[in-house]
Amino acid sequence: MKRVKIVDVLNQPQVGQEILIKGWVRAFRSNRFIQINDGSTINTLQAVVDFEKFDEAILKKITTAAAVGLKGILIESQGSGQAVELQVTEIEIIGEANPDDVQRTVMQPKKHSLEFLREQAHLRFRTNVFGAVFRIRHAVAYSIHKYFNDKGFFYLHTPIITGSDAEGAGEMFRVTNLDPKNPPLNEDGTVNYKEDFFGKAVNLTVSGQLEAELAALALGQVYTFGPTFRAENSNTSRHLAEFWMIEPEVAFNDLLDNMNLTEDFLKYICQYVMDNCADDLSFLNDREVQEQAQKPQNERNELTLIERLKFVVNNEFKRLTYTEAIDVLQNSNHYKKKKFQYEVSWGIDLQSEHERYLVEKEFKCPVILTNYPAEIKAFYMRQNDDGKTVAAMDVLFPGIGEIVGGSQREERMDILKKKCADFNIDEEELWWYMDTRKFGSVPHAGFGLGFERMIMFVTGMTNIRDVIPFPRTPQNAEF
Ligand code: 4AD
Ligand code: MG
Repeated sequence: MKRVKIVDVLNQPQVGQEILIKGWVRAFRSNRFIQINDGSTINTLQAVVDFEKFDEAILKKITTAAAVGLKGILIESQGSGQAVELQVTEIEIIGEANPDDVQRTVMQPKKHSLEFLREQAHLRFRTNVFGAVFRIRHAVAYSIHKYFNDKGFFYLHTPIITGSDAEGAGEMFRVTNLDPKNPPLNEDGTVNYKEDFFGKAVNLTVSGQLEAELAALALGQVYTFGPTFRAENSNTSRHLAEFWMIEPEVAFNDLLDNMNLTEDFLKYICQYVMDNCADDLSFLNDREVQEQAQKPQNERNELTLIERLKFVVNNEFKRLTYTEAIDVLQNSNHYKKKKFQYEVSWGIDLQSEHERYLVEKEFKCPVILTNYPAEIKAFYMRQNDDGKTVAAMDVLFPGIGEIVGGSQREERMDILKKKCADFNIDEEELWWYMDTRKFGSVPHAGFGLGFERMIMFVTGMTNIRDVIPFPRTPQNAEF
């Protein structure tokens, strides 16, 4: 007999039918009621066992976390709490679980801290929270491909191993197969990477953007969706050393088009999650409501998770320039009362406290900041006519801070060359990037969405380590 998934049984219950389900025991009460989950949904199916009909030896093995196959007839439930239940006729114990072992793991049915769950990332998939988070993570990934596919974008695979440093931040992981004990040296004592595998020094990519630009200037509209790596030593709840980024790039788009695309895209993802992940979302929503109730009134969220998603979909993002944002900050009471830790003046790189003030206190909605000072942004961003700012845009989200970074790109060769010189970038190394500005160069623009930061927003999880299956952070690469 072919097994059926619990999600299908619950969504389209065929009362009276004989079915086979396979899954893991969440609970076994009164030697009679098994709650079984197979991962296809957050919901469990209740299976009812007439204990007089089964061997005690078998019943003993139906313990929390054990894997079982249950055959039976689906009937309308006698009790409250579920519409249907399975009247069990056959039990197969597929994989036993030792109760003593279960006791020391996250599978023990009680509330665990997220920190404890992180230490057991290999088992945390079995919990309701992480089941919900990773089913939603899947749905968001799918929605992103769907969004771009429906709009006629092409998915581009950019290299993970690269010789270029797109962001110019220099925080990269070196990839080499030289012998660390005895690397070939140049005369000046530095490592001679000409003898390395690729004949040059290479790193794990920090962004696929530069390559995406090459493709956009031929295919029109492309996007990347892949892993990116940053060796910044930031041990925060919003940084990973390995994260996933989505980078659309569109020929003929300017900064305004770029803002419109970002806003539409982020709204689409939020709507998709509401439309397609209702059970998981409502579980996470209720969980957050309970957690919030433990907090002092002034630390509670104003909106619930689902309300926040609706808010993003239904409200326009606030758009303002960097220069206007500095004015807003300087005129705030917060500033006058000297509550910002870092200084606020034109030219600073906005700190997370500044971004969060704008989003959470001042505007109370997603914000798109544009036209940043050239010095604090990457070399490829298009210079504005004022000569001081570039056509950059950052999208800031409540509770997250920066979720998207993007810009219109510098398409004018003379200015690009000057920018390389200003930023100390060897244009010879980037010959292939520069080359595209020689053959029908056009205005173009794009952005990067941090996938995990988006997942944080749509799940309400507050630590980025809890939205990626196996987080890589400083001093941590377990599993
Ligand atoms: O702002 P960033 O550095 O932009 C770029 O890399 C551009 N090349 C994008 C483009 O224009 N095509 O990174 C983009 C986004 C950030 O806004 C943030 O959401 C996320 O990537 N991000 C990180 N997420 C998790 N951990 C980190 N260490 C991150 N660094 C950036
Ligand atoms: Mg950025």
